[in-house]
Amino acid sequence: MKKIGLITSGGDAPGMNACIRAVVRTACAEHIEVLGFYRGYEGLVDDDHVKLTKSKVANIIHRGGTILKTARSERFMSDKGQQMAVTTIIKNQLDGLIVIGGDGSFRGALALSSHYPLPIVGCPGTIDNDLIGTDFTIGYDTAINNVVDAIDKIRDTAESHERIFVIEVMGRDAGLIALRSAIACGAEAILIPERKDDFEFLLEKKKSWRQTKKSRIIIVAEGDEHGGAMGIGNLLKKEWPDFDIRITILGHIQRGGNPTCMERVNASLMGYYAVKALQNGHANEMIGIINKQVCYTPFKEAVKHIENLNSDMLRILDVLSS
Ligand code: F6P
Repeated sequence: MKKIGLITSGGDAPGMNACIRAVVRTACAEHIEVLGFYRGYEGLVDDDHVKLTKSKVANIIHRGGTILKTARSERFMSDKGQQMAVTTIIKNQLDGLIVIGGDGSFRGALALSSHYPLPIVGCPGTIDNDLIGTDFTIGYDTAINNVVDAIDKIRDTAESHERIFVIEVMGRDAGLIALRSAIACGAEAILIPERKDDFEFLLEKKKSWRQTKKSRIIIVAEGDEHGGAMGIGNLLKKEWPDFDIRITILGHIQRGGNPTCMERVNASLMGYYAVKALQNGHANEMIGIINKQVCYTPFKEAVKHIENLNSDMLRILDVLSS
């Protein structure tokens, strides 16, 4: 293996830079050249790349976002776009590709490999943590810490004014950001796409709430079928007219900022293992870390949607918030 390509694709996630650094430094140690392509698959379509050296990735481990930029490439979704990416791969004599991204990025990798037999290894990079084959995706830990930080601040106002806050967190298809941050913030309830009866559950649960406590935090994943925090907030205003209800959408603040220590370490390990995996003949697999062990999951499995959230965690949230 002499030369590999590297892209970051999909939504940016804190820790992607730490992973880029690890890929480049590991490859350099193995005398492998790394070409970084800009804006995910867009850079492969256009052959827009930079040669990544050890010094090009200096002082980035602590930075959020991605120095390679990222995109959800429309052009790459077409057959023509994928053929153009193959031309780039052949022209640059790539022996392998590392993709740092989420489910859409891995579906893109599968599409690319159906056109050309290039070994591709993925590093899970998404704040949503909705991939099978790893305990934590790159970006998730920082995102939930951002959420906790923001909700702690909102709680000051909730308590002082005795208000109910309905707070929307990211998660188009998954409630994992909502669930973990709800436990960490002591939230009263969550509404998530994976649970279809959660609004009725909330109405029922309110009957057992202590009368003396007037402030409450309710976390809603953006993908919840009631229309996110706006939908739930407006429904609750009708159901509970005696309460002062406010709606906050945290939005992209969740995706930014310096990665946490855990994020930097996980991303570094995954970047290292991704290079080693290519060297050892892995292809079309995602690197993951489960119980501190490196794991390899075929892209086809990794992208399957997580339907069932950890039911213990849901139960514990309900018990602790009563
Ligand atoms: O996939 C990560 C994610 O942050 C989702 O939680 C969210 O729905 C989406 O990206 C938002 O994407 P964009 O930044 O393109 O609006």
